[in-house]
Amino acid sequence: MSWIDHRPDDAAGAFEAMAAATTGSVDAATFREAMSRLGAAVHVVTTDGPGGKGGFTATAVCALSDAPAMLLVCLNRRSRSTGPFHANGVFCVNTLRAGEETIANAFARRTADTAQERFTVGEWTTLSTGSPVLASAVVALDCRIVEVKSVATHNVFIAAIEAVRLGDAGPALVYHDRAYKRV
Ligand SMILES: Cc1cc2nc3c(=O)[nH]c(=O)nc-3n(C[C@H](O)[C@H](O)[C@H](O)COP(=O)(O)O)c2cc1C
Repeated sequence: MSWIDHRPDDAAGAFEAMAAATTGSVDAATFREAMSRLGAAVHVVTTDGPGGKGGFTATAVCALSDAPAMLLVCLNRRSRSTGPFHANGVFCVNTLRAGEETIANAFARRTADTAQERFTVGEWTTLSTGSPVLASAVVALDCRIVEVKSVATHNVFIAAIEAVRLGDAGPALVYHDRAYKRV
């Protein structure tokens, strides 16, 4: 049975477009400045499988549902991760620990280019899906993609969480006002 068959009875009207995506009148610079005021946890989202290994730094990760446990991740379609994520159908959200800027910069293509170079930073293992799990992560959420929505420049990956690895308690890395901070 596919995820579509599980759509809840109270979801009537939930799959209709409400307005054309082009109706927004806020320019990109203003939007980026506005978003810089929002503090957000920094994650490295990884994948592995027939489509190859990939990973990128992300703040656009959001809890969706706790029963079933689900989350969403937004990925720019021009990212080199797009191909591997589609082909593998799985990913792991690794929430970075305070002080792990080196890993964040590698997976944001600031200090490492290829996937092979990126995974030389940090210690990696696996959980359920085979996606790379960062051993030092505050938490790792191993996910299977159930739906992909293409919105504006990004793909929204909606995923079911198959396994969770809770790391040692401690401060996490956050991005706020265009700088890394700790919470
Ligand atoms: C703090 C931070 C947060 C980011 N969040 C996202 C995000 O949520 N989604 C996204 O597509 N890119 C995000 N990026 C940009 C990607 O990490 C970057 O574009 C990507 O790794 C580019 O390399 P690639 O195309 O070779 O993978 C973020 C970058 C940084 C530094």
